[in-house]
Amino acid sequence: MKKRTKIVATLGPATDSRESIKSLIDAGANVFRLNFSHGEASDHIARAERIRDIARELDTYIAILGDLQGPKIRIARFANDKIELDVNQTFTIDIKLQSDAGNKNTVGTSYKSLSQEVKAGDQLMLDDGRIQLKVIDTNASQVITKVIVGGELSNNKGINLRGGGLSAPALTDKDKEDIKTAAKIGIDYLAVSFPRSAEDIHQARQLLKDAGGECALVAKIERAETVNDHTILDKIILASDAVMVARGDLGVEIGDAQLIGVQKHIIDRTRELNRVVITATQMMESMIHNPIPTRAEIFDVANAILDGTDAVMLSAETATGDNPARTVEAMANVCLGAEGQKLAKTSNHRIDIKFELIDEAIAMATMYTANHLKGVKAIISLTESGSTALWLSRIRSGIPVYALSRSIKTLRKVALYRGVEAINFDPTALARHDVNRLAVEELRARGYVKDGDLVIITKGDSMGALGGTNAMKVVRVGEVN
Ligand code: G6P
Repeated sequence: MKKRTKIVATLGPATDSRESIKSLIDAGANVFRLNFSHGEASDHIARAERIRDIARELDTYIAILGDLQGPKIRIARFANDKIELDVNQTFTIDIKLQSDAGNKNTVGTSYKSLSQEVKAGDQLMLDDGRIQLKVIDTNASQVITKVIVGGELSNNKGINLRGGGLSAPALTDKDKEDIKTAAKIGIDYLAVSFPRSAEDIHQARQLLKDAGGECALVAKIERAETVNDHTILDKIILASDAVMVARGDLGVEIGDAQLIGVQKHIIDRTRELNRVVITATQMMESMIHNPIPTRAEIFDVANAILDGTDAVMLSAETATGDNPARTVEAMANVCLGAEGQKLAKTSNHRIDIKFELIDEAIAMATMYTANHLKGVKAIISLTESGSTALWLSRIRSGIPVYALSRSIKTLRKVALYRGVEAINFDPTALARHDVNRLAVEELRARGYVKDGDLVIITKGDSMGALGGTNAMKVVRVGEVN
């Protein structure tokens, strides 16, 4: 039994070698994330080539996701690299202070409008909320605070405003350069950090196009103001091909207790709007150093799967951790456990909705049949762009969807869709009356189905054309003409 939930694994120093990339794929990774916050363009280009090479060797389809750094707001540096903050002491963030002159009382920041954008009473969360400061007063260049939660604070740590609202534009100059690298690599997914609105996604798409690229866009949902207003969130989802529940910054801004409900809402809504969703951050955090996950982590991953996420993501666990392949393996194991639950296989999704498109209606009819007709073991979707496979995968099910496509781009893209496996298949190279039989044969040859099993095929009248899926056919393996 293969897992349905996809695993996004971040590559980094711990997983740069060919052997480790291969071991992550063997353990169950489907998508590799290149983090543009670290490394040079040439590193990313080399990594992408390595991934593609290995995927080819292993005869599998792996998507590459490039993750832009975005406008993460940070403190500057300390003369002695770090300080210790005591509860109740005064601490000032000063935009005029030299970037390496921080001390126990004050530190600089490159975010020059900070003192204009916060006010007395606001709470600043530093280093993912480990340090908390209450704003007492502001002036033209300084934010004067009182330490609420103290501890060690070191160079360049992030700053978040509790409740959100810092207005830095989503795409920085560095991001714009990285988009060019992304276009050069021909990545499959580009993740935009801290989008404030759908506009930011449109802009990223345009910049990518200007750089000669084209790929699926991922909106990282990590600003409080984008989840507090459901209209903004819907627009961002619709402007994107996928979204990421980026729990790190989002959790700091809205508070982890709120994050639980917000995660469920984002996953639900994204699927409802026919988009793909990734759940990220600290999913197997303890495995950075430990050989096994905690029970709480297992439940966190399982919970996201029961919520309906397409993919779960690993960050430092695979980029810099001690046990990258073991972590993917442990995560894959949790996927299988959670996917066995009834909740993961039954769907009320769209039960009250009118469909607008013929191909969408065919996909829904296919899933209803697959989930209700005894003996269905597989769904074959002949697809050009992957869109039929996307619709199919929005419905919860235990039946695997095989996306048969002649487009390499499509085969890689569907690597992120829950329950979908890519198979290279070109119907345009075949006589029309052979297509069904040979498509089923592809599955039988791989041992996915056997004589007597039922398979549902979706396709359209014209082969090799985008859109136009207008038929589903139920066939019995061994009796297909
Ligand atoms: C392939 C099949 C067609 C089908 C089309 C759907 O080209 O040969 O029969 O209609 O895919 O592609 P889509 O991108 O809309 O899923």
